[in-house]
Amino acid sequence: MVSERAGDVTPFLAMDVLERANDTDDVIHLEVGEPDFDPPERVTETAVASLRAGNTNYTAARGKPALRRAIAAHYDRTYGVDVDPDRIVVTPGSSPALLLAMAALVDPGDEVVLTDPHYACYPNFVRTVGGRVETVPLRPAEGFRPRVSAFERAMGSETRALLLNSPANPTGVVMSGGTLADLATLAAEHDATPVVDEVYHGLAYDAETHTMLEYTDDAVVLDGVSKRFAMTGWRLGWMVVPPALVDAVNRLAQNLLICAPNFVQDAGVAALETPPERLDAVRETYRERRDLLVDAVADWGLDLGYTPQGAYYLLADVSDLPGDALDVADLFLEEAGVAVTPGVDFGDAAADYLRFSYATDADAIREAIDRLDDLLATVER
Ligand SMILES: Cc1ncc(COP(=O)(O)O)c(C=O)c1O
Repeated sequence: MVSERAGDVTPFLAMDVLERANDTDDVIHLEVGEPDFDPPERVTETAVASLRAGNTNYTAARGKPALRRAIAAHYDRTYGVDVDPDRIVVTPGSSPALLLAMAALVDPGDEVVLTDPHYACYPNFVRTVGGRVETVPLRPAEGFRPRVSAFERAMGSETRALLLNSPANPTGVVMSGGTLADLATLAAEHDATPVVDEVYHGLAYDAETHTMLEYTDDAVVLDGVSKRFAMTGWRLGWMVVPPALVDAVNRLAQNLLICAPNFVQDAGVAALETPPERLDAVRETYRERRDLLVDAVADWGLDLGYTPQGAYYLLADVSDLPGDALDVADLFLEEAGVAVTPGVDFGDAAADYLRFSYATDADAIREAIDRLDDLLATVER
């Protein structure tokens, strides 16, 4: 009864771990990628006022003009990039934007190149539209930084898109402007389109985030309010598409999505107008949490080998501990009540790793560290 395509979709292990962790008492959640902040107050007030004003009907599929203008203003203010609002399509989260991007670019049998490790869901988006995944393994010794030459080797005549992510889930690596520019050039040489997931922009600690739009208009850039404004359940994202793709993406959005929720779009305008000081404070909080975990991982004698600079994840090698990484994740959950995500969720290159998320408050992170200190002191290596 189930289609081959649906049968091929792999489970999202982080969600499986969350389900098990929720069935266990007294668990500290370092597996989820969900910010623990509240959205800015004005965002909630705007949504409520918009609801009360009756903004509950459909909007244009591409989104309300005021939101598309606010998104364009955000690119101008943040990166000095001029984006025509006509190139912006609003979506219910960045995940549907990924689906539209793949549906607009990839025909059955076409190839999409992405890194390994990568965000767990990417291959499933590619496979859902009949595409094939080609991976570029990232090396821990190089701090999981993508090499342009490795992308070049992975690309061929059937490559339609490069699917990139910076700051990256699960490594926290931030791509430099130079790397983005070189990848834009490489993609153009191969007649492929960079699809760049920038959903963790705004959450970088010792690095600058550059949008791909600084280097080319021939890219699909995805973003949304989930991460930096802590609005995961509001479901609001957007995509900036090359002029030649606008019409196709709009038709797909009309058919597959209809629109993002009307009143949430108004709240999105308020989110984008959030004073920068608030994001500075959020960033500072994440930085402190990251430092706590980075130090703890070193104390446990586990190899990190790099400093994660963005998002709120780090990937630690647990191959020195007994069993495989799935066993270690089980041990952490069952013996210490600390939930983490097995790296294999993010690709074969991360199979010996665990992903720790620091989207949890610092006290809980300290408690998790204490528990794992005690547990690891009893484990033979
Ligand atoms: C890299 C990456 N892209 C996209 C998403 C999905 O975000 P959204 O809530 O905007 O659909 C996530 C969520 O964890 C993510 O980590």
